[in-house]
Amino acid sequence: MSPAHSKRTIRDIDLQGRRVFLRVDYNVQLDEHGFVFDDLRLRESLPTIEYLREAGARIVICSHRGRPRGEVVETLRNAPVARHLGSLLGAPVASTEDCIGLEAYAAVEALKPGDVLLLENVRFHPGEEANDPEFAWQLASLADVYVGDAFGTAHRAHASIVGVPEYLPAVAGLLMDREIDYLRRLSDNPEHPFALVLGGAKVADKIGILNHLCGESNVICVGGGVANTFLSTQGIDIADSLWDAEGVPDARHVFEQVEARPDLRLYLPVDAIVGFGAADRDHVRRAPVDHVPSGWRILDIGPATIELFRSALEPMRTVVWNGPLGWFEREPFDHGSLAMAEMLADLDGTVVVGGGETAAVVQRAGVADRINHVSTGGAASLAMLQGKPLPGEAALDDA
Ligand code: 3PG
Repeated sequence: MSPAHSKRTIRDIDLQGRRVFLRVDYNVQLDEHGFVFDDLRLRESLPTIEYLREAGARIVICSHRGRPRGEVVETLRNAPVARHLGSLLGAPVASTEDCIGLEAYAAVEALKPGDVLLLENVRFHPGEEANDPEFAWQLASLADVYVGDAFGTAHRAHASIVGVPEYLPAVAGLLMDREIDYLRRLSDNPEHPFALVLGGAKVADKIGILNHLCGESNVICVGGGVANTFLSTQGIDIADSLWDAEGVPDARHVFEQVEARPDLRLYLPVDAIVGFGAADRDHVRRAPVDHVPSGWRILDIGPATIELFRSALEPMRTVVWNGPLGWFEREPFDHGSLAMAEMLADLDGTVVVGGGETAAVVQRAGVADRINHVSTGGAASLAMLQGKPLPGEAALDDA
């Protein structure tokens, strides 16, 4: 039996009139006008919220946003997210200015069955990331039942992920259930040849994950800031490009593994779209990666790299993609990521896309419905694909 089914879900309990603490992952960015930039994570949480509303629950939603490190950061408040969620639900979503304390408690008490409240950013309190039991207890006192639906944060042993479930009956939401079910079946039995496509800016994080997935992979294609670290490790002068000196030993380790394994090929960019300074359209050009002019920086993979990756990926039966391959928020540096989305949509094998930014690329390319699974979790989905336990899953009650 799939382990995803070993946890109780919201379908297994009576929710009428009960105060439900619904932990979601609304770690989304706002645009320059203060509106939610990409609402995939909100939309993916709707089936759970709608189920809870129909079941007559009083819904207290909790999420983090960004990394405020235990302090109030005005730009990371949850109120704009509450407004956006309200427009998606077609119902008002109240919000609070703190996730614990009297104001939060009063707001919860005012909820009627079917009402929805979004608490303030839970990471404004240091107790969240420290998994402080006192803080977890304060959160738990707002509710009767815990629903874990924050798949994107299920790899973090934080108070609202693993602490609160210690005080309440704890069940999985519909998104958590679906993500775990899909990804675990894939990680238990991936079809080979297996490829990993890796990009993004969180260089050190990604290189650690890549080390773990090497053993499963036959092909690894690397772009984004991660590729810059690999290129630097090879002694290539990448001028002003973003790279991560701390990632060099990890990159070296990957090179060693590739050398030792004839069934594993590593593909790095051979050309790039480079920009100068603020990278306006007058300062954009294509360059081989070993001829990036001084003062310029790599901001996307180039056309020769797109073709190189295409021929490497075409024979694959399973491809996992995590992280944009360039500065995808800014044209024309989104081209490599959009081209990857289109090529993976055309692939015969199973394609899994993980991570908020990568999911956004797939949406923007208009191919999400041709990708087998678009996960709302980046690190969480990759942890699962390595067979690692997720604290956020382990904390839930067994069926
Ligand atoms: C994510 O966006 O990957 C999750 O929300 C986790 O965020 P974190 O890396 O800041 O813990």
